[in-house]
Amino acid sequence: MITNQALNVKELLAKDEQFLSSALYRVFHIVAERGEGSYIYSTDGMKYLDLTCGIGVTQLGHCHPEVVKAAQEQLAKLVHISCVTHHTENIKLAEKLEKILPGEINNTFFCNSGAEAVDGAIKLSRYVNSGRPNIVAFRGSFHGRTLGSTALSSSKALHRKHYDPLLAGITFVDFPNCWGCPVFKDPKNCQLECLDLLTRMFKLNLPPESISAIIIEPIVGEGGYVPAPSHSLNPRFNYLKELRKICDEYNILFICDEVQSGIGRTGKWFGIEHYGVVPDVITMAKGIANGLPMGAFSSKKKYMSLMPPGAHGSTFGGNLVSCAAASKTLEVIERDKLLDYVSKTGTELMKHLENELKSIAKIRGFGFMIGIELTSKEKAEKVIEECFKEKILILSAGAEQKVIRFIPPLNIERTLLFNTIDKIINIIKKG
Ligand SMILES: Cc1ncc(COP(=O)(O)O)c(C=O)c1O
Repeated sequence: MITNQALNVKELLAKDEQFLSSALYRVFHIVAERGEGSYIYSTDGMKYLDLTCGIGVTQLGHCHPEVVKAAQEQLAKLVHISCVTHHTENIKLAEKLEKILPGEINNTFFCNSGAEAVDGAIKLSRYVNSGRPNIVAFRGSFHGRTLGSTALSSSKALHRKHYDPLLAGITFVDFPNCWGCPVFKDPKNCQLECLDLLTRMFKLNLPPESISAIIIEPIVGEGGYVPAPSHSLNPRFNYLKELRKICDEYNILFICDEVQSGIGRTGKWFGIEHYGVVPDVITMAKGIANGLPMGAFSSKKKYMSLMPPGAHGSTFGGNLVSCAAASKTLEVIERDKLLDYVSKTGTELMKHLENELKSIAKIRGFGFMIGIELTSKEKAEKVIEECFKEKILILSAGAEQKVIRFIPPLNIERTLLFNTIDKIINIIKKG
């Protein structure tokens, strides 16, 4: 029997197909209507535990009351002024960011998304290293959907298909993946050959003096939840430290894309802090405003001030409502000590997953950015399908879509978290 509610969903999905661009992929064919904390509610009255956070965005859960209040209050005061005047909210947020950004990174440009943040960082590198036309990016990484950030991305060929010519001067090098070594070595006794890929390239085809920037995700997100090698993974090797040395040697700008790994997701404000390295530029977006559109790139004032007024801009970027929501999001993460919570709970979670699944899956990550790599896409799809039956929304990642990604809200309640992970472990074990 088709109920009114079911009919409603069918009608909505039919209209969705008729009026919305087919380019926009959707994972689950339910229609979300409302969200609260770790849950979303669909139009047919179903309640789902959301372990996707809208792809790593709602760090404090859906519609966090304090963030909603901050945004509502700002909505009633002033929504938009663009660059016509200065305004209170971006000043407040930029000052707050300066306190949490690593090293001497102290100056920020606000935009609307991660891809825009990456594009802005590329423009910055052109100013800092004027006359150097090349950029190095890592194979398997994702940086966004604008033409600039698409040119830097290589996590899925579909994202680039039909879009050539893209931004010129991009060279890819393999990401140092200790769970699928690009040069087929065993991380326990390798000679750090993945670093040679970069330095050999400098000798053979890409003079380092021609490179303006190297962009890297400290923990690859869309490409499969792969942290760059750090001492906790390989005692002899901290890839990002080596990369820092190379960038220093050749005056190459080190851009760290923290769009997915930033804002507390890994138990530190920024993923790169796990490596004890300070990049030159940090891009961020996703979790910063708990769901309102916001992106940013930050660097040292000495670099940022090379771009004169008008060199870059955005009508909506850094609008007052998103800034107010972002300031409140950062304040709540700090006040509720969520970095500590995510760090400790994430470590426990990883141990638990390893104990239960080590013979059938590769487990990796930091904090609440954990990847569970299964042996095939079909297996991952089955897990996602079975979770959906249990009213749990969870996503996959990676070119082969065989990594289950675990990105719950940073404030998810501990018992709920461990009960749910046990359900997922059972589903994975059943195969
Ligand atoms: C590391 C990284 N950079 C950039 C982006 C692009 O962000 P947005 O979709 O907000 O443009 C993403 C999105 O998934 C990302 O994971």
